Amino acid sequence: MQRFVGKVAFVTGAASGIGLATMTRLGREGAKIFAADINAGQLAEEVAKLSEEGVDIHSRALDVTDEADCRAAVEQCVTQFGKLDVLCNIAGMVLTSSHDGEHPLGVCALPGRYAALAGSGREYCQYFIRGGFAGAAL
Ligand SMILES: NC(=O)c1ccc[n+]([C@@H]2O[C@H](COP(=O)([O-])OP(=O)(O)OC[C@H]3O[C@@H](n4cnc5c(N)ncnc54)[C@H](O)[C@@H]3O)[C@@H](O)[C@H]2O)c1
Repeated sequence: MQRFVGKVAFVTGAASGIGLATMTRLGREGAKIFAADINAGQLAEEVAKLSEEGVDIHSRALDVTDEADCRAAVEQCVTQFGKLDVLCNIAGMVLTSSHDGEHPLGVCALPGRYAALAGSGREYCQYFIRGGFAGAAL
């Protein structure tokens, strides 16, 4: 099936596990992929494999706990592909409340919750608004 032809997907945590499986499936179904992970070496290896299959894919190192870096990554994706249709927030930062405020607990896959990809999330919503709310967030 080629259900994502013409779509651009941004995938965090793309170097392994759920993120890798997600970008692989989307890419094989026709999506253009912008892949990001803190592990640049492993990400490059996986991206090379998908590229050899013919997937249109670009990648960059990204620490999703760095808001400015997240914003820059989304800008880079949109510059590269002209738009952003699907945000796969596989690596996200979970915050929890405590007596003295909120604390990041670590990176995990709880899509769309809390501060996951916080900076780019805001940017991403702007792209959706410009595009008529045609996208999806995971
Ligand atoms: N596998 C499951 O069934 C399952 C279920 C619920 C939750 N989770 C959580 O989802 C997350 C992803 O699961 P997985 O099995 O794919 O794990 P994984 O360890 O295989 O993949 C996580 C990816 O995120 C990247 N990463 C780590 N910190 C990062 C950061 N700050 N910025 C950008 N990328 C970062 C890692 O380099 C890695 O490639 C894990 O944290 C896990 O605890 C997994």
